[in-house]
Formats: sequence, C-alpha cells, structure tokens
Amino acid sequence: MKILSTLLVAAGLMTASVAFAAVDADAAQALLKKSDCMKCHALDKKKDGPAYKEVAKKYKGKADAEDKMIKHVTQSPMIEIDGKKEEHKSVKTKDAAEIKNMVQWILSL
Ligand code: HEC
Repeated sequence: MKILSTLLVAAGLMTASVAFAAVDADAAQALLKKSDCMKCHALDKKKDGPAYKEVAKKYKGKADAEDKMIKHVTQSPMIEIDGKKEEHKSVKTKDAAEIKNMVQWILSL
C-alpha cells in the first residue's frame, strides 16, 4: 500500500510540472494583439521590428533570455526605427505570469 501511494504522489507531481511548463499560445497571441505589438512585429517576417522567430533565434540557449525580454517589453527602452528614436511599446498588462507566458511563447517559436 505504501508503495502504491508513493507512486500516486509521484505521478501527480509529474502531471503538475507538465501543466506548469506548458505555454498558452492563445493567451500569448491575444496579449500581443491587445498591446498592438503586431503593428511592428510578425511571426516570421521583418516589419519595423524583427520577426519573433528571429528574436527566438537570437536568444536561443541564453540563460538570461526571459529576463532580458521581459525588461524589453515592460520598461520602454529607446529603439530606433528608420533613424528615428522612440520608446519601445510596453505590454498592456501588469500580470507578471501573463507577460512571462508571452515571452516564453516567443522563445518557443
Ligand atoms: C513601433 C514599432 C514597435 C512596436 C509597436 C513594438 N515593437 Fe518590439 N521592437 C521594435 C523594434 C524596432 C525592435 C528592435 C529593437 C532593437 O533591436 O534595438 C523591437 C524589438 C523587440 C523584441 C526583441 C528585443 C531584443 O532584446 O532583441 C521583442 C521581444 C519585442 N520587440 C516585443 C514586442 C512586444 C511584446 C510588443 C508589444 C507590447 C512590441 N514589441 C511592440 C518595434 C516595435
């Protein structure tokens, strides 16, 4: 009996960690749309900003990727478009989990 319950607990933990790691693609894209990000970005072609697939490639394997991107989309750093400096847009939410999900989705492309 003891072994069985240990197994059940282990299986439960595994399911929980899979659910935690899964990225919600729909929520990520909804937030990008809501925040007007798609005006300058597309998934796989360059507009005024780099394609999200290029961003994912640039950050592949970098441990600080998530932190850097979260800062980029929340702290309005200065960027340059056609020689003109402007503030980068921030996401329209204060929900850290929602922002993290969006960044993880971009990195997964
Ligand atoms: C006015 C056009 C514009 C809008 C709107 C815009 N971006 Fe960008 N974005 C850019 C440009 C240009 C760059 C490249 C900046 C650079 O490399 O200095 C960039 C870069 C990025 C990067 C890569 C950062 C890096 O460190 O390489 C991410 C991620 C990103 N944008 C996400 C977003 C998100 C999320 C939104 C919506 C909240 C958004 N962008 C809205 C123009 C835009």
